[in-house]
This record gives sequence, structure tokens and C-alpha cells, in this order.
Amino acid sequence: MERISYDLNKLTGRERHGLLLSVVGPRPIAWASTVDAQGRVNLSPYSFFNAFSTSPPIVIFSSGRRAREAGIKNTHENVLEVPEVAISVVSHEVVQQMSLTSNEYDRGINEFEKAGLTMMKSKRITPPGVAESPVVMECAVTQVIPLGREGGAGNLIISEVLLVHVDQRVLAGKSSVDTTKLDLIGRMGGNWYTRAFGDALFEIPKPGSELSIGVDSLPKAIRESDILSGNDLGKLGSLKSLPSQEEKSAIRQREGVKEVLQAVKLTDAERACQVEKLAKEWISKRLEQEALALLMSFHG
Ligand SMILES: Cc1cc2nc3c(=O)[nH]c(=O)nc-3n(C[C@H](O)[C@H](O)[C@H](O)COP(=O)(O)O)c2cc1C
Repeated sequence: MERISYDLNKLTGRERHGLLLSVVGPRPIAWASTVDAQGRVNLSPYSFFNAFSTSPPIVIFSSGRRAREAGIKNTHENVLEVPEVAISVVSHEVVQQMSLTSNEYDRGINEFEKAGLTMMKSKRITPPGVAESPVVMECAVTQVIPLGREGGAGNLIISEVLLVHVDQRVLAGKSSVDTTKLDLIGRMGGNWYTRAFGDALFEIPKPGSELSIGVDSLPKAIRESDILSGNDLGKLGSLKSLPSQEEKSAIRQREGVKEVLQAVKLTDAERACQVEKLAKEWISKRLEQEALALLMSFHG
């Protein structure tokens, strides 16, 4: 792999922005509604956003200084006046309306109206949420931390989540949400977005409290296989134990395996290749334990 290294201090602000935002992604989007001291509503999307703590429940988004004249954005001005924000999540159904709300309308212009969205009254704060969003969080802004004075400098808007309103249609249990139903979108670089839906979603079981053996526990020949990918090795390394002698002996007797191991016409390299291909197939069928027993009955 040949890489080109960029010193961010030698890039223009625009280039830095483009590079960083293309590589840090997909980013979740906070659709942030705020009010100014006169109660005028503002709604804008912010993809420098994430959850950072659950106890206390803290979310942070960053509002950058504008490239021109380094002024601060309406959302930022508003939270300095009224430290509250309703953060609505962005599902695919409303992605175009979300994009529309990123227009730099003057302060006091209500982007709910501009984008044809419905204001959902909040219970504990003044700013309304987006009624069309499946999840709205009512938040109290606890801190605003400026990261610089120049155009492009972020301002961390740190908020404690007070209430979360979830559309019943996306609920999976008493207090959990069904990821497959949310249909959230994420921001990539340039004009690109991604959609967390259907085939784009997949599960990886958590390692759990019992430690995994790790890829470094696998015999060298397995680690250096041209047939097994990094993901295959990752799955094998996630197993909790190496196969026992009994497991390896049992695998050698399996139909399909016996023939490969005993075929007199095959060279050692050809046999290794067939064993690894079979193991790869088993790994793809979630039979990692058997796959490792097979590989180690040959390699190790
Ligand atoms: C999907 C998306 C994500 C954005 N994320 C950010 C961000 O994280 N920080 C930022 O300063 N601007 C971001 N913007 C641009 C702001 O939404 C835009 O400057 C907006 O006009 C700010 O509105 P305001 O002045 O009413 O707060 C984003 C725009 C879009 C479309």
C-alpha cells in the first residue's frame, strides 16, 4: 500500500476541510433546533456530532465559525442566549428537507417553515423538535467551548439530554430502538451521504467478558494465508479457545475433509489451498470453531 501523507498545516482551510470531512465518516447528523432571546426558532443540521457519555447523558455537536469573516452561526448565537437545543435525528425520509435547512438564512428566519416541517412542542425546553423525525432529544446546553478564532474553528456545544421522544414504530423493546427500522442517514465527504438501512446493516456479536484468543495465537501459516482475509482472521481470533485434539481428530474424519487430506494426487501446497478454501467457506457460514479445527488439523 503506497500512501501520500498530508501535513494539515500546509493545506488551505478549504483543502483541510475537504480532506478531514471525507475521511471522518459516516457522521451522524444532529438536526438542531434552538431559539434566540426573542423566542425566534432556528433549525440547522450539524454532522460534527456524537454521544460522548451516558451517565450523565451527554451529546456534543460543533458549530464552526464561517469561512467568511469568521462569524459565528445562528445556532451558536442562540445557545449563548438560550442554552437549550432540541436534537432530532435524520432519517432517509426527510433527508432533502434536512439539506434545505442548511441554507444560511438570516437570523430569525424559521427553517421549519422554509423546509415545510412541523414543529413538535417540547416538554422541558423552549425549542421545538422536528415532528417528522423518529427520535427527538430535548437537551440543556451545559457548556460551549470555542476551539479557535479563525474561519472553520469549531465551537463545541455540549448538552445534557433531558428527554428522548421515540416514535413507537421504531421501538424494539421497553427502552430500545430497532436499528433496522430507523433508516438513519450519515454524512460523508463532499456532497455524499450514506443510508443505514437494509443490506448496509450487519451485526458483529460483542466479544463479551471472556477474552478472545487473538490473531497472534493462530499458527503462522494461517496468519499468512493468501486465501483467508483480514476479516476471516478477525473472526478466528475472536474465538474463545483453540481447538482441542479431539475436535481436530473429529474434523479430519468429516466427509469432504477426509478426501482432501488423503488425496494422493495433491501437493502439500494444493492441499493447503483446498483446506483454506473450505475453512473460508465455513467461516462465511458462521462455523468459525470448526473452520479453525480444520485449519489447525492441517497447519498446526
Ligand atoms: C448534513 C450537514 C451537516 C453539517 N454539519 C455542520 C457542522 O457539523 N458544523 C457546522 O458548523 N456546519 C455544518 N453544516 C452547515 C450548517 O448547517 C450551515 O452552515 C447552516 O446554515 C448553519 O445554520 P445556522 O447559522 O442557522 O446555525 C452542515 C450542513 C449539512 C447539510
